[in-house]
Amino acid sequence: MLRRKPIPLAEPIRENLKTSTRTAILVSVPDPNRNLGKERALDELQGLVKTAGVKVVGTLVQNRERPHPATCLGKGKLDELRELVDATDAELVIFDNNLTPSQGRNLEEELQRIIVDRSELILDIFATHARTHEAKLQVELAQLQYTRTRLKRMWTHLERIEGGIGASRGPGEKQIETDRRLIDQRISELQVRLKEVELRRERMVGQRDSHALVSLVGYTNAGKSTLMNALTGAGVYVADQLFATLDTRTRKWTIPGFGGVLLSDTVGFVRDLPHQLVASFKSTLEEARQADLLLHVVDASNPEAEEQAATVEEVLGEIGVEIKNSILVLNKIDAVQDRGLVDVLRAKYAHAITVSARDGTGLARLGEAASELLSDGFVEVDLETSAGNGRLLSFLAEHANVLDRQYEDSNVILKCRVSRNWLPRLQSEASISKITIRAPAETTLLAPATTVQFENSPPTTDPV
Ligand code: GTP
Repeated sequence: MLRRKPIPLAEPIRENLKTSTRTAILVSVPDPNRNLGKERALDELQGLVKTAGVKVVGTLVQNRERPHPATCLGKGKLDELRELVDATDAELVIFDNNLTPSQGRNLEEELQRIIVDRSELILDIFATHARTHEAKLQVELAQLQYTRTRLKRMWTHLERIEGGIGASRGPGEKQIETDRRLIDQRISELQVRLKEVELRRERMVGQRDSHALVSLVGYTNAGKSTLMNALTGAGVYVADQLFATLDTRTRKWTIPGFGGVLLSDTVGFVRDLPHQLVASFKSTLEEARQADLLLHVVDASNPEAEEQAATVEEVLGEIGVEIKNSILVLNKIDAVQDRGLVDVLRAKYAHAITVSARDGTGLARLGEAASELLSDGFVEVDLETSAGNGRLLSFLAEHANVLDRQYEDSNVILKCRVSRNWLPRLQSEASISKITIRAPAETTLLAPATTVQFENSPPTTDPV
């Protein structure tokens, strides 16, 4: 983030990201539609900055119809900011807004400080938190794409620090061209490597089909990892930090009355996510795209819960995740002050469940709701085949969830849960002597195919 050295090569800005000992002034020109009030306007930025490890030495908020085109702040406020910068000797000025390259340049000129905007801060946090190879590639790509449009500003800054202002086409100008070429090369390289990783991931996600896939999504710090731990007993990293989770993790969750499903935790969302990041995190969210059910976790104790839920839905829409099969999980109910907000959210979402991942309240109900919704995409099948039918048994072991197994003479009778997608395959399977399909609200006896015989049993209405 600090642009003392504009060398965006293999390790682009990460070299410059050492913000931990920096002091900063936080500034915001809040979007009037967010209706936050001055005291709350910087809450989220405070959280982001804390995660980045920067020390806040001053804050400034200006309510305006829209940010000033040249300097984001109006003239009076800019003077006030300059005084604050001088009085505190802050090294950075961090804006909650996204700045245009020229706004950034003008502010650096005016304040003689390093200016960081919201996207840069988020990119910085992502860079520091990326753990897997894939997440690192994604963040590097996003940073380079962002930096590419701002090289001029970086070099202006460097020349000023070195006292090198003057010649219209100084070393900076030439260096910009070189840097741009190097960045473009590196971007293509990263895109190729990411494509390979993505293909591998798609294949892996595509291969899982014996279990339903449930994906946790939600605004950063909503409590996804805590919920994952509570549901699965997994030791997933939980921290009161934004974006503690940057990589998807998957664990088995056994839902009483339904059976085992795969539960995956995904990266947290945030308002105004830099679009480079949204694009590059698509593949990390592959689990969410392929999920049979989304658990959208919301921190119900946060006064901005409604906006945060809307942001998550918006980003999911942007990356093409279907949200129709989802449950809104209103988490942190133990810490809720304003029950009214919870009621608003419950009224707005078809499936909303209040829980506390911390003390376990509501988790059983969540399991029941998940089971109900998942049952729609899965059916229970009773089938009979020869006990020596290794080919079919291994197919079922791979693609079905075998719930019960009984032996009768030389035959085996299996009760399985399978995705509806596999039904045609089973339907045409010659080695099955009897098959009964039980759907949630009805029992369907398959129309007899020539090679399959069916038990002449009455339909049942057992729920799955
Ligand atoms: P990201 O990794 O940023 O996406 O965060 P996350 O959504 O995975 O949140 P995480 O589980 O790391 O929890 C964030 C903070 O909220 C931690 O300090 C948790 O202890 C706290 N928290 C989570 N669930 C609850 C809850 O039910 N009640 C209360 N009071 N706090 C909770």
